[in-house]
Amino acid sequence: MFLKTIDILASATKSRPFLMLMIGLIIGYCVAELISYITISEDIEPTNFLASTDSNIRSPPSHADDVIPHFDVLRHDHPTDNTSLADQLKKDVRILCWVMTNPNNHKLKARHVKRTWGKRCNILLFMSSEADDELPTVKLDVGEGRENLWRKVKEAFKYVYRHHFNDADWFYKADDDTYAVIENLRYMLYPYNPETPVHFGHKFKPYVDQGYMSGGGGYVLSREALRRFVVQGIPNPKMCLPGTVVNEDIEIGKCMENLNVTAGDSRDINGRGRMFPFDPEAHLIPSKDKEFWYWKYQFYKSDEGLDCCSDNAISFHYVSPQLMYVLDYLIYHLKPYGVVRASQQLPDKLKVGEFLPPPKEEPANSNEDSFDDDDRIAVQNYGRGVPSIEPDAREVGSNEVESNDEKFTPELKAKLQNVE
Ligand SMILES: *[C@@H]1O[C@H](CO)[C@@H](O)[C@H](O)[C@H]1NC(C)=O
Ligand SMILES: *[C@@H]1O[C@H](CO)[C@@H](O)[C@H](O)[C@H]1NC(C)=O
Repeated sequence: MFLKTIDILASATKSRPFLMLMIGLIIGYCVAELISYITISEDIEPTNFLASTDSNIRSPPSHADDVIPHFDVLRHDHPTDNTSLADQLKKDVRILCWVMTNPNNHKLKARHVKRTWGKRCNILLFMSSEADDELPTVKLDVGEGRENLWRKVKEAFKYVYRHHFNDADWFYKADDDTYAVIENLRYMLYPYNPETPVHFGHKFKPYVDQGYMSGGGGYVLSREALRRFVVQGIPNPKMCLPGTVVNEDIEIGKCMENLNVTAGDSRDINGRGRMFPFDPEAHLIPSKDKEFWYWKYQFYKSDEGLDCCSDNAISFHYVSPQLMYVLDYLIYHLKPYGVVRASQQLPDKLKVGEFLPPPKEEPANSNEDSFDDDDRIAVQNYGRGVPSIEPDAREVGSNEVESNDEKFTPELKAKLQNVE
């Protein structure tokens, strides 16, 4: 059949050399496409998140598709759950989530965000440089690659401003390896007025006087912060850096400061963190190494062990697709029988420009004293997905560090230089 078609084509083209040339070109193109497709699918095998520390207890899979589910594993609901308060907050505190992804990750990562935490946002957008009808994506006119991150963030927020400014009160940027508990994000934001110029995230100390929000666990902008960023910031090189750089989180932090958008405090009433740059394990069982860059970057004093993390934690980073399903199961399905926690009362709403007072210095119920070194689970190194080198310091060019010199205390600078 196939040969016959070729025969017919050949005889048809005998008298038409141009047609023959065209057919040759088309066949050549198809073969080239096929080869590049095969090469790409080998390249994107996600060895990064499968090369985990527990490979000795789970034999390494031959291919990612063996372990990442193709279907939503937790599709059932719990109709007897009393979600009336969460439902009310979904109306009162509308959150648009946009997830930074790229064509290689549409299926490997972004799809699993949509099936797990992403579906709880009021609006969920995936920002990529390529269209994808399944997710779907917003196709931004920017190149891929880490060096384009800052441009991508600006284009994404411009898109959100143009198309969804009135559809949400808060605008949350996350990565495709972020995991977020959207109900807890709503609870944190509930007292704040979206017309207050403020943004929240995990606050780091260097580079920006008021601190900047670490990119990985995501950061959330109030509607007024979004408006200032897009209307007053992006078009004005005195406010926000034009062009593109790798460190989008530092740049938006500088930009927010220039625009008088307050760097909010995302800790809970007990002073425990709610938005995190690593996975839960890395925060619960931290490195003993006090020289680890993370401790020097903390804006607030932070605790180890269970005191690290709020019972109403919001976000973690470096979360593999597998762990997203595990977390969804642990948070939304598994419950200890007979234990029903009383829900905290909602705080009063604040006026525009008002902020909650900072939490008490020491976390309540601190068990620090009963906890000596032998009790701690000693781990020399952070587990998977935690860079041993600070991700921003590693990327920042020497010029950039120079221009920020005055923002470092001599002590911090010395420490950072040791890290580098
Ligand atoms: C559900 O919870 C809310 C408070 O969150 C409470 O006021 C309401 O009575 C509860 N409904 C039922 C049926 O238990
Ligand atoms: C920020 O606040 C300062 C001091 O109040 C003011 O001088 C400046 O114009 C403000 N900038 C913007 C962009 O609102």
